[in-house]
Amino acid sequence: METQKFNELLQKKAAELDEIIQTFLPAEEGLQKTVISAMNYSVLAGGKRLRPMLMMETYRMCGGKGREIEPFLAAVEMIHTYSLVHDDLPAMDNDSYRRGRETTWKVYGETMGILAGDGLLNLAFETALKAFDRVDEGDAEAMKRVAEALKVLAGKAGAYGMIGGQTVDIESESRGEPVTEAELLFIHRCKTAALIQASLTVGAILAGAGAEQVKALEKCGEDLGIAFQIQDDILDVVGDSGELGKPVGSDEENHKQTYVTLCGLERAKEDVERYSREAVALLGEFEADHSFLEQLFLSLIHRRR
Ligand code: IPE
Ligand code: IPE
Ligand code: MG
Ligand code: MG
Ligand code: MG
Repeated sequence: METQKFNELLQKKAAELDEIIQTFLPAEEGLQKTVISAMNYSVLAGGKRLRPMLMMETYRMCGGKGREIEPFLAAVEMIHTYSLVHDDLPAMDNDSYRRGRETTWKVYGETMGILAGDGLLNLAFETALKAFDRVDEGDAEAMKRVAEALKVLAGKAGAYGMIGGQTVDIESESRGEPVTEAELLFIHRCKTAALIQASLTVGAILAGAGAEQVKALEKCGEDLGIAFQIQDDILDVVGDSGELGKPVGSDEENHKQTYVTLCGLERAKEDVERYSREAVALLGEFEADHSFLEQLFLSLIHRRR
């Protein structure tokens, strides 16, 4: 597909996902409406919607045709958004700009920033649980698939996934000694690749893919996620904050050791390409049309936002 056509399709799909996500957002009312507004503020600020996009495309690739995927599409974006809201807090990366707007804590204060993140994490699981209402009650297999997808999502977001990665990322800032390449890969694999793995595998599981296919997609998500975080580290150095919608130079300011500080810009760029191509190769195992997904992976190699 030519680039312009791909970009149009990408935009169209992102807009469709936005609509789905919005249907699961809470009404800004009640005595607790401050925290609800803060939750909605961060989700509605936009973003690429990459994780729901990966989930939807994988679901389709694996033959999924139902609507039980929709709550999961919203849920993964809520978890991702909560991770950003907390990542920007003064106690973490201390950033003021995100998705082209002031960060949640800048607008609502630090306490509401913490609570809005907590609220989004809970909302994510309240939302994903709604998938049970969208499968036939008598269809025990479908019920099992939803339960399995919930298990994967919870695990990848937790202490052995995203939260674990954020922990080591933050600890490594103040440790005073250089991180090793293995430690940095651990950080990238957990803080970023885990949710990308969840996106691909939840899509596959809900569609009823077999264990081998799910395993291949887990590896695929690992490669894609590592590539994605290396590129994020690169953009923190050479990106444009207007285009990115978030600051550049944040890592340097936090004395964070990144793929770029460890390996240099050239090797980092080569590795984004290498990991991305490995991810694409794993898609080759799937017979169904996955040309959009493949092009999406490749487009991320040179992404500028
Ligand atoms: C930013 O993720 C945080 C990382 C894991 C690198 P994205 O680059 O997907 O951010 P949004 O969702 O588009 O704002
Ligand atoms: C954050 O990595 C990954 C998360 C799990 C939120 P970064 O701290 O590099 O993400 P940005 O650059 O602030 O988006
Ligand atoms: Mg961070
Ligand atoms: Mg950050
Ligand atoms: Mg970054």
